[in-house]
Amino acid sequence: MKNQNLKKRILVTGAAGYIGGTFAYEALNKGISVFGIDNFLNSTKRNIDILEKKFPKEFKFLELDISEKKNDLKKAVCSFMPDVVVHFAGLKAVGEAEEKPELYWKNNVNSTLNILDSINPNIPIIFSSSATVYGQNELQPLTEKTPLSTTSVYGQTKIASENLIKEYSKLKEYKGICLRYFNPVGSHNDCIISENFNNKPNNLMPKLIETVMNGQNKISIFGNDYKTKDGTGERDYIHIKDLIQGHFCAIDKAYNTKGIHCYNLGTGKATSVLELINEFNKANNTHVRYEFTSRRNGDVDICYADPSLAEKELKWIATQTLHDMCKDAFTAAESNKLYM
Ligand code: NAD
Ligand code: UFG
Repeated sequence: MKNQNLKKRILVTGAAGYIGGTFAYEALNKGISVFGIDNFLNSTKRNIDILEKKFPKEFKFLELDISEKKNDLKKAVCSFMPDVVVHFAGLKAVGEAEEKPELYWKNNVNSTLNILDSINPNIPIIFSSSATVYGQNELQPLTEKTPLSTTSVYGQTKIASENLIKEYSKLKEYKGICLRYFNPVGSHNDCIISENFNNKPNNLMPKLIETVMNGQNKISIFGNDYKTKDGTGERDYIHIKDLIQGHFCAIDKAYNTKGIHCYNLGTGKATSVLELINEFNKANNTHVRYEFTSRRNGDVDICYADPSLAEKELKWIATQTLHDMCKDAFTAAESNKLYM
């Protein structure tokens, strides 16, 4: 998994966020110049302050709404002249998207459109897609050939963004890669860049951390009558360290390819909610208990990746265990004093 052709200048949208911030940090650690953009729609200045302080020369930042300010975005791209664009910016809360569909359509799809309109087709684009594009599917594990379908507005904005990128590629020979993330959790080695918890967390791992930190030590499991090994939902949790490495491999590939390619970034292992809670308790010596409550709207039984295409074509595989994910997620939250 050595990255041979690492480029020197990367434009990162959503650089203040969890994954964009971690990617920017790791790219800067590799000596790459990063130009970050964010409008703090779902983040604070915290991660940007850290990046600016630690990498005063190599990191530049612009506060900008890329869904609205196309001209400013074009100017920024022109002046930075990136070798590659990694487009993380987007809203990601499934429930919120159902309540505010217009916001999600405008924000997520316009942002992708404006990025495409601002870059030269020979600059590869790496796009943050999601396993949510596969929706409810009986056939598991999910391969990149699995037909796309989704029941959520959030999922639709991801499918629409992927389609836009593919159509632009047909029209103007854009090239790039859509990475379909499964369930990213954990923290990078230094545990500095973290998820923003300014909103109440809804996802399982942040909920587990919150429940320990606020002393409740009890979590609701949404449903125990799914068609899974123990009745609770099964997902493919992937360590953010592996996820970020997948981006560097994708950048290598994007340079040596034509057109748009999609890859699953997952481990290929399905973990139930009960298994995750047990592993979390073991890894962190915590005592989170649970109660079963009703199903959460829109949840699927099971969703896990067949990651073999990424292994074959990106030369990438996930290496971190569920134990690593649970431990690193909790350590980062403790050391960054999240929820306190
Ligand atoms: P995040 O919310 O932590 O980061 C996204 C960043 O994008 C935020 O800082 C936000 O302020 C910024 N942003 C949103 N709209 C913007 C706009 N119009 N202009 C400029 N900045 C804007 O989310 P994340 O977990 O880092 O996710 C990054 C990407 O990965 C998202 O596109 C998300 O949909 C996708 N993804 C995330 C997950 C996950 O579980 N975290 C899973 C699959 C896919
Ligand atoms: N769950 C609980 N209790 C909680 C929170 C979650 O039982 O308090 C369960 C859910 O029902 C599900 C599993 O834990 O079975 C995982 O739920 P998450 O909310 O952590 O993750 P999802 O798979 O529902 O969704 C996440 C992102 C989506 C993305 C999807 C696929 O939130 O944006 O992964 O990448 F689309």
